[in-house]
Amino acid sequence: MKLYALKTTHEENPISIDQTPYFSWKLESEQENTMQTAYQIVVSASDNTVVWDSGKIESDKSTFVVYKGTELTSKVKYNWEVTIWDNHGNIAKETAYFETAILNTCEWKSKWVMSKQLSKRKKGFGNQPAPLMFRREFTLSDKEIVKARLYATCHGMYNISVNGIRPDERHFAPEYSSYDSILFYQTYDVTEIIKNGNNAIGMYVGDGWYFCKETTMSKKTAKDGYAILYQLEVTYADNSTEIICSDGSEKYAEGPVIHSDLFAGEKYDANREQIGWDTPGFDDNGWSPVIIDNKSGYDELASQIGKPVGVVKELLAQKYYVSPRGEHIIDFGQVLAGKVRIHVNAEKGTKITIDHFETTDKEGNYFNNILTEGGVGGGCDQKVEYICDGNERDYTELFSFQGFRYIRVSGLDTVKPEDFTALAISTIKENLGTFECSEPRLNKLYENTRWSQRSNMISIPTDCPQREKAGWTGDIGVYSPTALLNEDVTDLLTRWMRSVSADQSDNGAVPMVVPNNQTYKSMMTLLKLVGKRGVRGDIGVAGWADACILVPLAMYNQTGNTLILEQHYDTMKKWCDYIIMAADKGTGDKKRPKEIEKYLWDTGFHYGEWLIPSKTQGGLNDVGAMRTAFAEAVMYVPEVYAIVAMRNLANIAGILGKSKDKCFYEDMEAKMTDAFAKGCITHDGKMLIENMGAYIMAVYYDIVPDSLKSSFEKIIVEKIEENDMRLDTGFLGTPIILDTLCKIGRSDMAYGLLFQNKAPSWLYEVENGATSIWESWHVTTPEGNPMAVSLNHYAFGCVDDWMFRNITGIIPTAPGFKEFTVNPLLDERITSAKRSYETEYGKISVEWKNEDGKFEMKVSVPCNTVATIVMPSGEQIRKGSGDYVL
Ligand code: BGC
Repeated sequence: MKLYALKTTHEENPISIDQTPYFSWKLESEQENTMQTAYQIVVSASDNTVVWDSGKIESDKSTFVVYKGTELTSKVKYNWEVTIWDNHGNIAKETAYFETAILNTCEWKSKWVMSKQLSKRKKGFGNQPAPLMFRREFTLSDKEIVKARLYATCHGMYNISVNGIRPDERHFAPEYSSYDSILFYQTYDVTEIIKNGNNAIGMYVGDGWYFCKETTMSKKTAKDGYAILYQLEVTYADNSTEIICSDGSEKYAEGPVIHSDLFAGEKYDANREQIGWDTPGFDDNGWSPVIIDNKSGYDELASQIGKPVGVVKELLAQKYYVSPRGEHIIDFGQVLAGKVRIHVNAEKGTKITIDHFETTDKEGNYFNNILTEGGVGGGCDQKVEYICDGNERDYTELFSFQGFRYIRVSGLDTVKPEDFTALAISTIKENLGTFECSEPRLNKLYENTRWSQRSNMISIPTDCPQREKAGWTGDIGVYSPTALLNEDVTDLLTRWMRSVSADQSDNGAVPMVVPNNQTYKSMMTLLKLVGKRGVRGDIGVAGWADACILVPLAMYNQTGNTLILEQHYDTMKKWCDYIIMAADKGTGDKKRPKEIEKYLWDTGFHYGEWLIPSKTQGGLNDVGAMRTAFAEAVMYVPEVYAIVAMRNLANIAGILGKSKDKCFYEDMEAKMTDAFAKGCITHDGKMLIENMGAYIMAVYYDIVPDSLKSSFEKIIVEKIEENDMRLDTGFLGTPIILDTLCKIGRSDMAYGLLFQNKAPSWLYEVENGATSIWESWHVTTPEGNPMAVSLNHYAFGCVDDWMFRNITGIIPTAPGFKEFTVNPLLDERITSAKRSYETEYGKISVEWKNEDGKFEMKVSVPCNTVATIVMPSGEQIRKGSGDYVL
């Protein structure tokens, strides 16, 4: 028996821990049925003092084991050793380490330093001030350097270098968070980069999320100058230390980037480069002195845990053509989020312009699919301009990224497609899954889901990478179960959840977008006019604000992470109390008896299911249709989500041992369910609003009175049949429609919808050339012209979670897949399938073939877990770890 994948706070040997760490490990053994029976963890500081010895603990717990030793000290490397006993009498040991970052704000000796105030920004290309390069030189003693850590952050977005060398390849530090409450700093190992004698630090700072017109958090900060903070801590061989702090001795100047904006793009003039600006000895006469920024402090600072944003794939041009309008167009064959690397070799002064876009018009010309009439998307030029200095080189935009598949190249006499490479960027994450089956269209659907996930996990979970780049809560609320199956998103979601809790209003309302920036705060001000009724302060949107419960709950179910439930319990509870208050105070229907009205959340502004196909055929521009959909939404969506929220919170309270809360919210769930039956269902047994999703929700969430169950099930079937065997559900109804059909014994119909290829359907997208998941089922007009709809929204990709649990049949029966069932739901259209999933305990893999009347299945069960395998005959086989052929 061996141990592997030792992690501290979900990372291998991190150097940036600033909160109580937790540990995990995995077991590997050739012996079948291996279970951990006990563990012991010993943590010791660099001088070998033991700070925690857990003692031998009889337990099979091997994930999220929280450190319980003495208080940790800042900037210290701790080694930890874990010893495991298994049920076969084996013992194994393994070691790993973690290093603490800055644990107390008083240990920040550095000062915030800033440039002078910057000119105001406007949306659109070229309406931003130039990013600034900050530099500073310092001298280190001649003693042998054994360790050097650089802690840095900024107001803006920065690239750091020491002696002209970047310590890592990260993009977009300091990442995106609710800056008024949380600002991440990054920790760099610069031991190999610094040297005795003269050194230089350079920070190139652009707008990023902090200053971008669309994403700025507060009106006040938007006017300030770029500010930086760094602290370099050097340890010498004689154990002495030296600290180099940002202190006001820095200087700054403009560099080659003339404008940069996350939505508009970037303009770069290579003639303005200052070679060697971040190395010692550079002549910075003529650079401006910084100002000490006394307004900024350290209270918001937190260490960035988890991996940074980086390039995750490179794509070559698939096709180059000149469009009917004479435009030079390169097709990378894949909708993605990223940047283009251009190999430049043109005369000095040549201006190369690249316009990024997701789809062409019917004729193959450039088309901007993200500008909605009078709505969102203004300012999303997605343009890069590069002015040549006559040198041959590679250039990639620094401070922005775009959503695209195609680029239009202007300014070059000859366009060589091989000079352009698309760099897909994403937060770097461990890949957790693979899927393949005998049906190529489902494989493509899976790949498309993976692409939309990649594109929308850039620092935070977003809706789309081109139009809004926003942390829409509803989108990740429905998509998180799928996201967790594909990639290790625990760190990313943990970081984002901190912003969710930070942005919650005092009355408990959780914003529809987190970080809740000015754009969406203003939008909420308008929506409040529609939906305030009875509620003081901010309002919460059903199904969106609920992400504060749905995301941690998905994390718990998929990985067994109880810590995230503990950390955000108060947020969830406050949100449920908001719902109770909003239900009580708001009167949706004055004719209803008070005792029913009191428990129905039937007021406020709600997106409803959002993008129900039959109601939104005109796309996002059809404002009239949207309004009707919102008005209908309030008659079933909040009512249902209120019940679900109470139920989920009661369950979570149970998991955390809060029995009083459990009882309270269970009771509230019962009252709301009763009110739902009396208030949302008519006397003749119909939902008030007869949407397909309304019936789906009622049945899926088990809130239909027993007497109406079979009639509701019949209505669901009829509605789908009437709709020509196609779905008619939006963001909230779609994730549960196939499960609902399975639940009512119509898995044939679930497969029918999955295999449907007429719009609206998943395979319609695939058969119509989709390389990602579309925002809406309708992306073209009946004449075939593209509409103003994003082609890269992951929400409808949630079908992959159903495919995981049904096609390959892997169903967790205990949190984190500690126990699971393998029970494939067969359909004659699929003759083989295989899926692997790296759980917190190790890899589960299932591979089956169903050919010529013979069913064969291979299953791998990781150590420390137990599987119940169900064969098509109904035979159940219980297996511990091992590889099995059945
Ligand atoms: C976003 C969505 C979001 C929605 C709210 C859109 O503009 O792109 O994905 O959830 O607004 O309804």
